Amino acid sequence: VTDYRQALTQPHQSLYRALFVSLALHVSFAGAERDDNWLHYGGNANGDRYSTLSEIHRENVDQLELVWKFDAGTGGLQTQPLVIDGVLYAYTTNQDVVAIDASNGTLRWRSNSRSSSWQPVRGLSFWQSGESRRVFASAEHYLYALDADTGAPISEFGNNGRIDLRQGFGENAEQLAVYMTSPGVIFDDVIITGFRTTESGLSAPGRVRAFDVHTGQLRWQFNLLPELGDRGAETWPDTRDPHIGGANAWAGMVVDPERELLFVPTGSATNDFYGGQRRGDNLFANSLVVLDARTGGYRWHFQAVHHDLWDRDFASPPVLLTIIDQGKSVDVVAQASKQGFVYVFERETGRAIFPIDEVPVNQQAAPGEYPAPTQPMPRKPAPFARQNLTAEELSTRSPAVNRAARETLASMRNQGLFTPIAVDQPTLILPGFDGGAEWGGQAVDRDRGVFYVNSNDLAWHTSLLSPGHVMSRGESLYLLHCAQCHGADRSGAPPEFPSLRRRAESINDFDMITLVKGGKGRMPGIPSLDFGEIQMISRWLESQDSEAAASEVFEEDPAMLPLYVFSGFKKFLDVDGYPAVAPPWGTLNAIDLNTGEYRWTQPLGFYPALRNEGLSDTGTENYGGPLVTAGGLLFIGATIYDRQFRAFDSESGQLLWQTQLPYAGTATPITYRANGAQYVVIACSGSRDRSGPQGAAYVAFRLPR
Ligand code: HEC
Repeated sequence: VTDYRQALTQPHQSLYRALFVSLALHVSFAGAERDDNWLHYGGNANGDRYSTLSEIHRENVDQLELVWKFDAGTGGLQTQPLVIDGVLYAYTTNQDVVAIDASNGTLRWRSNSRSSSWQPVRGLSFWQSGESRRVFASAEHYLYALDADTGAPISEFGNNGRIDLRQGFGENAEQLAVYMTSPGVIFDDVIITGFRTTESGLSAPGRVRAFDVHTGQLRWQFNLLPELGDRGAETWPDTRDPHIGGANAWAGMVVDPERELLFVPTGSATNDFYGGQRRGDNLFANSLVVLDARTGGYRWHFQAVHHDLWDRDFASPPVLLTIIDQGKSVDVVAQASKQGFVYVFERETGRAIFPIDEVPVNQQAAPGEYPAPTQPMPRKPAPFARQNLTAEELSTRSPAVNRAARETLASMRNQGLFTPIAVDQPTLILPGFDGGAEWGGQAVDRDRGVFYVNSNDLAWHTSLLSPGHVMSRGESLYLLHCAQCHGADRSGAPPEFPSLRRRAESINDFDMITLVKGGKGRMPGIPSLDFGEIQMISRWLESQDSEAAASEVFEEDPAMLPLYVFSGFKKFLDVDGYPAVAPPWGTLNAIDLNTGEYRWTQPLGFYPALRNEGLSDTGTENYGGPLVTAGGLLFIGATIYDRQFRAFDSESGQLLWQTQLPYAGTATPITYRANGAQYVVIACSGSRDRSGPQGAAYVAFRLPR
């Protein structure tokens, strides 16, 4: 296949391109009205974050001005809004829905989510039939149907305008975390949803569910975590084991309405990092699952990680596009991954456009573990993030930094992608636990078949703790439920995951219970922990902070623990807190999916302090995706330390414009036309960088009149 593709000559390609462009123009004229809007999460039904608007283009983008700003509260804000006929629909940081005049930022209406906690809510869905127009939104474990014109709940939908997403999960349902981080997709008169759940302890079994947009009734359901007798059940010992859950779809889906196909990317199975209780490949975890959008029936799937031991969720929604393969135009689905791969498949059949090999992988795992013998690796495109690290590829910021990094690396298990996490020894994780690709998604230049993906490019590390040491009950609960983020030694991974050292004493039990049960920011609620258990965690945390030995030792409950406990997410950093690998630490990549070759790659982001020392092109961690327009532009925020919003030339990768946002633009921008002009809007918030200004807002840019 590859050879044939390479043999395809340039003239042929441009001929097909010309054909496509004229076809695309035809389509866009027919749907010209639609393009003024941003109707879907991902912009349009393809989820390609591409707009045919071109009033803002390469020559005038440097004149963009901030024209309005809407204050959305405090905390994180990751929403990609919708725009329908001049009204922008978005969330505040406490999950109220707001309808804003898209041309001037004034509030039309605001719903009341009654939510006290912050949860990431990355988008909304819109449905229309005749006069009836509805916005579907989520807060906590509810899905709401709101009147798009007034914000009033639609009373005939579910229970007075909302349904409880914990329905159907049996007697433990109330203890489960079931939140929609990404919106449902609309197909005819159903809204198809996935959810986020906890990744340790009690977690909900992954399901795709289609609810009637009128009544909220469940129309169909597909068990991503198979029940007895379901397809895929043979890849588990027994999914009725309460320690097993997940394989849930949280990143967002797309529907091909013509083929009536639904594309569902899924997350890992729980427990994330020790899989001794879940021997087998664990379908449909870490998979792209393709279903019949009308019935929920199975069509095909691709599993990117068998028996995942690294939390390699599919964190990005898939993108639909058309490429030229072996001289023919083929409708494909592209799926990016945390491990830095893009997989491309023919939509109908699941045929891989670029061959994917099953490669034998490292088998040295914790006792009682069953690592998969092989893992899939696509031959093309080349990974967009580093997957291997040698001592020659460490930071050379200073001789001391380099020396220390070499020493640390030498102490780690460093054997490449898909190496099981070692027991009581740090294992290098590259790309890190946050990818590679993340939840912001990717964009496609529809006319050229170019796929744009921003990526993190730094190493993390972690280990499994052997059950050898005696643990108090509080400690064991802490290690099971909290350590993955706050670290086994409670030092966290600031700024994203705060340290809990000297913290518990200043938080009373009630606030701790509210926080742990309800979640906050990136911290998911853990409703399965009861009050007593949370108090035990608090007591243990306090005992660790006091000079005296633990005042009370609680009895160990071995049933609560998986055999080996994850010691926490740790970034591989140098003494000053910068990544210990050589830059770039974050990149923006343009990949031609007709050929699998890169068009360009740029570092994305800078650290203000390093820039002052002359290190300007380091790239940084980035969250939130790109937007591509027919004006030849790629807009992206995403970088967490420099608070920049940038526009690149989508063809050459040249930076054409940048401006500083009030807070980091860690969300995917959108574009639309309102009141006769093209606007670009991005959500920004301060929660990722605690040292910067705090707040959250939507900001809108436009050319001067
Ligand atoms: C998935 C990651 C994750 C897990 C698991 C987690 N946390 Fe957190 N936690 C966070 C993040 C992120 C924050 C910061 C939230 C914010 O303010 O936006 C946080 C904040 C906190 C805070 C407030 C810290 C401060 O300085 O304000 C406390 C206390 C806390 N967590 C306790 C716990 C306890 C106890 C557990 C286990 C029962 C736990 N967390 C589990 C990620 C996590």
